[in-house]
Amino acid sequence: MAADSFIAFVERFPEHLSDAKHLGAGVKVSGVDKVVVTGMGGSAIAGNLLQTYCAEKSPSLHVHVSRGYDVPAFVDGRTLVFAISYSGNTEETLSAVKSAMRKGAKIVAVTSGGKLKLQAEQLNRAVVEVPEGIQPRAALPYLFLPLLNVMHNSGLIPDPSPEISSAVNALKSAASSYRERARSLADKLAGKVPLIYSSDRMAGIAYRWKAQFNENAKIHAFTHVFPELNHNELVGFTKLNANYYVIMLEDEADMRRVKERVKLTKEMIGKKDVASTQIVIKGEHLLTRILSAVHIGDLTSVYLAKLTGIDPEPVAIIEDFKKQLGRVPFV
Ligand code: F6R
Repeated sequence: MAADSFIAFVERFPEHLSDAKHLGAGVKVSGVDKVVVTGMGGSAIAGNLLQTYCAEKSPSLHVHVSRGYDVPAFVDGRTLVFAISYSGNTEETLSAVKSAMRKGAKIVAVTSGGKLKLQAEQLNRAVVEVPEGIQPRAALPYLFLPLLNVMHNSGLIPDPSPEISSAVNALKSAASSYRERARSLADKLAGKVPLIYSSDRMAGIAYRWKAQFNENAKIHAFTHVFPELNHNELVGFTKLNANYYVIMLEDEADMRRVKERVKLTKEMIGKKDVASTQIVIKGEHLLTRILSAVHIGDLTSVYLAKLTGIDPEPVAIIEDFKKQLGRVPFV
């Protein structure tokens, strides 16, 4: 894909959500009392969105996101493990599936194919197949919505479909204003190191912003959460060692006290000559707010890439790393 087609693809996020809304509709598991999402990079982030969503929709359900070769020790026969790998060939995720199998977990694979599909089929586990030929991080709607559908079918969350439709409509009607906001933020970010701050409950969304700046704009970016950052990271503004730009993501449902912290932090860092932009995430439903915040971040990262002469799509260094590591025997 040429750079402009990739940007246009990212702009079509609301349509992809609409396209993906029935994925996983036929998959159901029973006897589950906790959920683990295992995956890496652009695939794992779907787990963070699920976690953010479930914290409100099903607060007593434990949802854990695991990035690595093993699933956590608490995984057992009553754990639903979503194994997500867009390519289906990520070694950590394939290894985590084996670890989940040994613990007797109920596994659902989400993938476009590869070894994960084969592995799940051989083990007689459900596979949600997503469309091929997309960069994993740009396939987020296809990786995330099946999780909601399977969770609902399995009686773990209320029916998400009204919220999905409402989110799609909200994102479609706000399309031009989101693009405008993202373009103007990208202008401010050129040459800067983004620091993305959010409340603890929205940490997964801030992390998506960070990863998208890394992979699309090919720059470093860092994230931290309120209130914890007021107890350490704030001090770093005393002796600046890089050209930072702070992005504060504030969800309208964040605690009032956290909002006070955002306001005061913005004022204090402003006095240290560090510019910031506050993005207040609005929307009737949590799902709309999660997806709109993700979309604005995605757009900002690709517009920043364009502005700085970078092709947002390829991640050659990741491919090269995987290739080189693949030559080292896996023992
Ligand atoms: C590339 C991307 C990466 C991959 C990661 C894991 O667009 O986002 O972060 O997601 O290297 O690969 P998959 O998703 O194929 O398991």
